[in-house]
Parts: sequence; C-alpha cells; structure tokens
Amino acid sequence: MKIVVLGSGGREHAITRTLLRSPQVERVFCVPGNGGTATTDRCQNLALTVDDFPGIGQFCSDNQISLVVVGPELPLSQGITDYLQQQQIPVFGPTKAGAQIESSKAWAKALMATAGIPTAFASVFTDANTAKAYVQTGKLPIVVKADGLAAGKGVTVATTLAAAEAAIETAFSGKFGAAGSQILIEECLYGQEVSILALTDGQAIIPLLSAQDHKRIGEGDTGPNTGGMGAYAPAPIITPNLMQRIEKEILSPAVRAMADRGIVYRGVLYAGLMITPSGDPKVIEFNCRFGDPEIQAILPLLETPLEEILYATATGRLAELGPSGRSIAWKNEVCACVVLAANGYPGTYEKGKAIAGIERAEEKGAIVFQAGTRLQGQQLLTDGGRVLNIVATDSTFDRAFARAYAAVDCIGFEGMYYRQDIGHRVIKA
Ligand code: AMP
Ligand code: GLY
Repeated sequence: MKIVVLGSGGREHAITRTLLRSPQVERVFCVPGNGGTATTDRCQNLALTVDDFPGIGQFCSDNQISLVVVGPELPLSQGITDYLQQQQIPVFGPTKAGAQIESSKAWAKALMATAGIPTAFASVFTDANTAKAYVQTGKLPIVVKADGLAAGKGVTVATTLAAAEAAIETAFSGKFGAAGSQILIEECLYGQEVSILALTDGQAIIPLLSAQDHKRIGEGDTGPNTGGMGAYAPAPIITPNLMQRIEKEILSPAVRAMADRGIVYRGVLYAGLMITPSGDPKVIEFNCRFGDPEIQAILPLLETPLEEILYATATGRLAELGPSGRSIAWKNEVCACVVLAANGYPGTYEKGKAIAGIERAEEKGAIVFQAGTRLQGQQLLTDGGRVLNIVATDSTFDRAFARAYAAVDCIGFEGMYYRQDIGHRVIKA
C-alpha cells in the first residue's frame, strides 16, 4: 500500500512512523513533510504544498496511491477531500461541509443545539458595539472566540471587562481575516480539559484512547495558549462509564446531526471536552482532525496496523473493526509526550538552529517525533515553533515521564524551551 500524508508537524511524523511499522505499507509520501519524514528509507517528502489540490491529485493517480491521510484542518476546510473523492481516491478526513464543525464555531454551536449536545451557552455577534454591550451585562470571566480558523489564537478567556472588550476589538480588526467577521461570546466552563479523538465513517464511531493536552506555554498552566506543549494518554479521568456517556451524549448525536444535514463524515471527530466539577462532560469545541500533540501520545500505544484503521474509516467499513472497535488492540501501558519549542513561541521565534542528540534520546528508549524541523544536507535544523516531541511509554505515568524527561536531557538546540511539569495531574511521585 502506498500512502500520502498531508502536513508537516509532529502529528504527521507520528502518523508516518506508525504507518511504516506495518510491512503492508510499502511507502509513505509526505506533503510537504519535515526533517523527520525526509530521513527514512520507505518515506519521502514531496515538493508540493497542502493547498496544491491538482498537484496532489496528479501525484496520486500517477503513483497508484491507495489512501490520502489529511493531517491539518486547513486543507480539509478548503475541500481537499471533496476534490480527491471526485477522482475516486480514498481520503481519511471529512469533506468541506463536514470540516465546518471546526472551521465555523457558530456552525458547530448550531449543530450542537439541534442535537442537544451539552456545551457552553454562546451568542453570535457580527459587530463590535453589540458584542461590547452584551459583555457589559454578563458575568466574568467570559470567553470571546473568532468564528473561523485562527491557528489556535482566536480564543480569549477574559477575566476583566477591559480584556473582553479588547478581544472583541481584535477579532473585528481583521487580524484573523475572515475568521473574525463574526464572533461568539461564550459562558466560561470550569473543570478538567480532555481530548477525545474518535474515528467515524459517518455510521460507526470508535473513540481512540483519551488524552490530555497542556495548552498554555508556562508551567502551572499559565501564560498564552499554544498549539499544545505536551500530552499523555490515556487520561485517568475518563473512566469506561464516562467514555460511554461521551459516545452517547456527544459523539453519536454529532455524527447523526451531520448525517441529517446530508454530511457523511469520515475521519476524526475530535471533541475537546471540559469535565465539569459535577462530572458531566461538556463540549468546548470540535475539531475535524487528530489533535497535535495528543496523537503523538496515542499512536505509540496502538498495536493494530494504523493503515487498516484509517483505510476502513475512509472507505466506510469501520464497523468491520467490531462493535466499539473491539478489534483495535492497545498496549496495556501509558504514554508521555513532552514538546520542545523554540524560544519565543507562541510569539515570534528564530529558525535555523542546529539540533543535536536525537539518536541518543532514542537510545534511552524514547521516540522522537519531529515537528518544526528541516534537513539541510546532513544537518537537522529548527524550522518552526514546536520543534520536537519526546515520547515514552511505560507501565506508569511516573516512569513514562521520567523516561521522556531523561531523553529530553540528551537533546540540544539554541533557545530550546519546554515545560518541566507536563503530566502534573497524573504524576504521583
Ligand atoms: P479552542 O480554540 O476553542 O479550543 O479554545 C482554546 C482554549 O480556550 C481551550 O482549550 C480552553 O482552554 C479555552 N476555552 C475555550 N472555550 C472555553 C470555555 N467556554 N470555557 C473555558 N475555557 C474555554
Ligand atoms: N492540541 C490541540 C489541538 O490539536 O487542537
């Protein structure tokens, strides 16, 4: 089987390496890929961009590609799946209509309202003055969100009226482009955040192991939001009983409500949830793709060949994996992932710094998934905000994180930054 993976982050390197564990996978082509996907013998980066639909389509038909796996949300929201499906190429990832669950928060809220899915109360605004008048009458903290894709920067949890008003101004200033032409103002939820990444072919739904991300840049979950600074799986807060409720109250109604709108949703339905103090799950947001870095902490625990699962999802045969995905096998271990970032991230940062120590880190028993990296000749250089993911599995979180942080100590690049408290909720010692 020959597979194309779209994207260039840690998520895509994790998907690629996991696919390559299987002898059934002859070759993986990454668009555009990163330094990690450029270095293995059955893997190759293509000089294409994820928005070059004709180029990707042509490559697939010229090279008998069996499956395209779409990593990031942007090409999904631009309709890459619709484009490739017209050429009978199986695609893992929803159509443009389905991707609206992430690309328009207002659309997702309306879907949740019709389906009776528990979520924060929200109102939609199309002008700054009405929005400001609304926050003046409401409770603090309050959450201001740009409607569309804003690369994780469109959400402000405002603790003061001034901050809420500033967020409204920013959203309507054009900073987020079309994403800020309407905004949501939302009730603030409290509790523990959990990521549930579920596979669905529009009929069957199979949640993967639960995971928890660490969104803030600073230790103690402080400072600005990032794409995610570390993760672990599975999340102990998600008991089997709670997972059943999440399937029944959130995942199934969402997939059914989309089917009612004529959308056959195939790919990942990612529910970002708040487990409230009463123990009830509420949706913070839906995404239409794997979480990054959550999937880096999930895939090392997967025993079933990944290409079988992704192909079954893309071709509408997920039910063949058994009720609740019983034929998906997981290692009876836990997984820890620590993100190494460039100094300055999530603000401005420099690129092009030499990276050393990946082999030594892997000799220590860790897996290094690369994110913002590129190869220049034989030298690996930093090329993004989140640079590497250091991942380790073990029998307990204490041991897995000890192993991951021991491997972190082997790695060096100028300005390397990471949080030292990833896993603080689950580490006992
Ligand atoms: P989103 O881009 O919607 O995932 O939001 C980014 C982050 O903002 C989430 O991961 C939460 O930490 C926070 N957030 C978003 N909406 C809410 C809410 N209604 N209540 C509390 N925190 C929120
Ligand atoms: N780690 C959060 C996300 O992928 O959206």
